Amino acid sequence: MIKSFFKDKTKEEDVLNVPEHIAIIMDGNGRWAKKRNMPRNMGHKAGGENVKTITKACDKLGVKYLTLYAFSTENWKRPEEEVSGLMDLLVFFLKSELKELHENHVRIRTIGDISHLPKKTKQVLDDSIEVTKNNTGLNLVLALNYGSRNEITLAVKAIGSKLKDGSLDLDDINEDLIAEHLDTADMPDPDLMIRTSGELRLSNYMLWQLAYSEFYFTDVYWPDFGEEALMEAVKVYSNRQRRFGAV
Ligand code: FPP
Repeated sequence: MIKSFFKDKTKEEDVLNVPEHIAIIMDGNGRWAKKRNMPRNMGHKAGGENVKTITKACDKLGVKYLTLYAFSTENWKRPEEEVSGLMDLLVFFLKSELKELHENHVRIRTIGDISHLPKKTKQVLDDSIEVTKNNTGLNLVLALNYGSRNEITLAVKAIGSKLKDGSLDLDDINEDLIAEHLDTADMPDPDLMIRTSGELRLSNYMLWQLAYSEFYFTDVYWPDFGEEALMEAVKVYSNRQRRFGAV
């Protein structure tokens, strides 16, 4: 469902279609820090601050799902210090923000295999998911140890094992069934995908789910991508015509 804001009902350009689901690749933390002669983890810290800003802005706008690429299956290749810094940052973010998020009816969820995250990070995540599980406001979906190819591989394996044990028939396999076996099973596909920092690729992010999404790329580094920048992206999205393959 698309929520519309009417500033002036007579002017078409003043009608803002708010995406139900925004997915973001939060890129450029490292370059943001480098530009300031700071260590990379300071860039992630600033990026974490911006997660709060954009979560609040999306909530205010009426977005129902905000999915953030916080740690990919490939990010383990980064220096140990950076990986542990990111894991600690996640713990800090959840511990300091949980109360306010919960009061604002935000539901915290994850996609990706969080069973492989450090014990402490997993524990804080499990608690946050549990505390907010009945909230009906914004779904803040953190993609953690997430990679689309891994997600699809696991889905294929799960379907294969159901075929093998006879609980599924070959004819049962269709797009809906595959979608039901992905981490996003009960979520709508993203309407808008934003990638910051000028990189023009998907980096193994939601390959199935982004099939018909609108893409928005900006040169702005993630820590600088504030509320105004988000509004600009939503405005551009509003003016796109989505045809889903039809004419
Ligand atoms: C990409 O920038 C960013 C990441 C790999 C991590 C994203 C994490 C955060 C924004 C902070 C923590 C998140 C939460 C939910 C609190 P990069 O390091 O690849 O930047 P670069 O390309 O400029 O080096």
